Amino acid sequence: MNNKNLLIKNASEVVTCKGFKTKKGNEMNDLHIIHDGAVVIEDGIIKAVGSTEKILENIKEENYEVIDASEKTLLPGFVDSHTHLVFGGYRAEEFSWRLRGDSYMEIMNRGGGIINSVRGTKEASKEELIQLGKKRLNSMLSFGVTTVEGKSGYGLDFETEIKQLEVMEQLDKVHPLDIVKTFLGAHAVPEEYKGKEDEFIDFIIEKVLPIIRKRNLAEFCDVFCEKNVFSIEQSRKLLLKAKEMGLKSKLHADEIVRLGGAELAAEIEAVSADHLLQASDEGIKAMAEKGVIATLLPGTAFSLKEEFARGRFMIDNGCAVALATDFNPGSCFTESIPLIISLATLYMKMTPEETITALTINGAAALDKADKIGSIDVGKKADIVIHEFPSYKFLPYHIGVSTVEMVIKNGIMVYD
Ligand code: NIG
Ligand code: FE
Repeated sequence: MNNKNLLIKNASEVVTCKGFKTKKGNEMNDLHIIHDGAVVIEDGIIKAVGSTEKILENIKEENYEVIDASEKTLLPGFVDSHTHLVFGGYRAEEFSWRLRGDSYMEIMNRGGGIINSVRGTKEASKEELIQLGKKRLNSMLSFGVTTVEGKSGYGLDFETEIKQLEVMEQLDKVHPLDIVKTFLGAHAVPEEYKGKEDEFIDFIIEKVLPIIRKRNLAEFCDVFCEKNVFSIEQSRKLLLKAKEMGLKSKLHADEIVRLGGAELAAEIEAVSADHLLQASDEGIKAMAEKGVIATLLPGTAFSLKEEFARGRFMIDNGCAVALATDFNPGSCFTESIPLIISLATLYMKMTPEETITALTINGAAALDKADKIGSIDVGKKADIVIHEFPSYKFLPYHIGVSTVEMVIKNGIMVYD
């Protein structure tokens, strides 16, 4: 289908996910559903949303390609706002070691972990990484994801970091999914900078960031702010310099140790702080106050057998929560949205409605794009997913199984 004018009618539910309210988390429960709804799409943009009856009064059906969505549910495309999708090589053996009892940090400290993927990514050619990336994006699309954030961070040197970002730039051009690029040069300390972390941060600031900025290779800067990786001070310095150069901030914060990453995110008014398994009450409240999105990654906690982040506490304290996969070769090798939905609802005490909000409009907000994507609303990109079953309530109910039937990206059907 290549027709840009599309009418989707008779949907049992159009779950619009309209309205993003950072400072009142409980509004995450309001999905703004239209029953027996229709959506009009022109030139890739949503032109009208309403009851099928009303919509049909105002348009000529014959001017549109028509999809009858009877007994089906329409949702905005999911926004997977935290992934590490470009990497070479895999780490299946590390997963077995973890099952045996080794911790993620132990494996990292003996040269496995991120550094293992750095080796694989350095060895891979750009073309190989593009081919791998396409496969991964196809898989994400099959789960109803229409926008994905992707991080560098498996290079830790100038060339390979740039290579990863260029691969994402290329993938964004050739694949229907939109990719939002994040520079995560401070993802681990490379061998040659062990014990000289400050120098590594300076190297990134002086030698890498200016080029990324000049070539517009990333929209966000991220850092692994963690004990024995990068300190609060180093993270602050990097993110503030990046901000001066026009890159918005994200942090891997308080994942393994309570270091004060949530507090730092609030202090520098980052767009999001991610993971937050160990975030303090004060840090969470400060984030809520400053409107920093809490991006929770339950697949990672699950895969590492850690306690889940306190999603319920965050929402109850006014924090806007987003959910994402954290797709990566180490701590969470999954692009499964159904898994994330199951974990959030069954283990994090999030309601089905909050979970959907966290994967759509709040995911968009975590990428500073809540004005363009994340809801079925007039003027937004027509990124719409048709799910089998007559209600969104089937998404958590159908455990671990994708309910996606058709994906429409920019008004064009790209998966069915
Ligand atoms: O988000 N915590 C740091 N970074 C990734 C893991 C990356 C890896 O293990 O390769 C994360 O979990
Ligand atoms: Fe991550």
